[in-house]
Amino acid sequence: MPTPNDLNLPDAKPENGRLIDPARSRGSVGMRENPVLILTDDLRRGREIASDLSLLTEWIAVRLVTDAADDFDAALVVSDIAFSRPSSIAGLRARLARAASPVRAHVCVIRRDTPHDRAQANALGASSIVNVKQRAEGLRAGLAPFLPRRAAPKTQPSVAASRAMTDLLEAARSGGFVPPALADKGAEVVRKALDDVAIRGWLEFVWRFDDATHQHCMLVAGLAAAFASTLGFSRSDTLRLTRGALLHDIGKARIPIEILNKPGSLTQAEWTVMRTHAPTGFELLAGQGYDDETLAIVRSHHELLDGSGYPDGLRGDAIADVVRLVTICDIFAALIEKRPYRRAISCEEAYGILSKMDGKLDRDLVRAFKPVALASGEPAFARAAGRG
Ligand SMILES: [Fe+2]
Ligand SMILES: [Fe+2]
Repeated sequence: MPTPNDLNLPDAKPENGRLIDPARSRGSVGMRENPVLILTDDLRRGREIASDLSLLTEWIAVRLVTDAADDFDAALVVSDIAFSRPSSIAGLRARLARAASPVRAHVCVIRRDTPHDRAQANALGASSIVNVKQRAEGLRAGLAPFLPRRAAPKTQPSVAASRAMTDLLEAARSGGFVPPALADKGAEVVRKALDDVAIRGWLEFVWRFDDATHQHCMLVAGLAAAFASTLGFSRSDTLRLTRGALLHDIGKARIPIEILNKPGSLTQAEWTVMRTHAPTGFELLAGQGYDDETLAIVRSHHELLDGSGYPDGLRGDAIADVVRLVTICDIFAALIEKRPYRRAISCEEAYGILSKMDGKLDRDLVRAFKPVALASGEPAFARAAGRG
């Protein structure tokens, strides 16, 4: 009989805090609310599902279907088995039958979208059926109504991140030294907070801020940390990306407040001033001990692959990968934020806009951003109004 330790999931990295083997993690599953139980006959696919879910819900139990006699809660189930294998069907049916509590949601991922497979999924009690090609969206739609709403973080890391952001902007506003150590600390606490609450909880925290620039930088940093996690970045790479994201708009500290917070569209002249925030931020940080990557993010996060961005009109390979990552987070953040001249756009809609920016954004990276975008929740509670 396989135990969780037999699962041998090479990508189940506890340090990512997402794909969790309950037997090895802190406490038992019973201590947490509604872990999603993934029942699969193919661990590679199980890992992919776990990756799709990793930003949506904190607890994920991965178990083999076979003859495992476990007592994990199965209130929320994602199944992914080959309907061509009678043993898989029998195993899934048996596992569902001995669920300790009633199955509230059973999202059945089907590998071939045929009437036969849909009928089979229904026969297994699926509450929703997801074509594997739309798996990430389908999982979210099928499970989100049943997941506990994440409490916005009240934890020390989120408060400390906010304090670090305030200090960074203050230092930039006063024209003084913007200490790299402070930016490092900010990035570290953002990363920690993301571990605590994932991107959905982080957004709920971030929406509380009235200062638009503060809110925007915190949002982009959280998205960048989540993006790094889905890309499997090492801890140090995650911190570098998060730090760059936290600082990317530091130059806005020098933009006149009446332009920054103007309650309406900017004139052409005002946009010209607004766009100086990128080179201004670069000049502010240059010579203060920041590495080239961070400086590139600050200067070039509005550059686009087709050369239509600013301030330098860089094209293609001249734009570093790390900059491209922040640009995607930045545009997504700007879209889901409420602006004085338009409503906030839903995360799905915002991702749709990103994915149509072919030629301007890195297509592969936009695709990789999808789980982050779809796990970000709804922007309806966005309060601050600014421009990014
Ligand atoms: Fe910017
Ligand atoms: Fe920005």
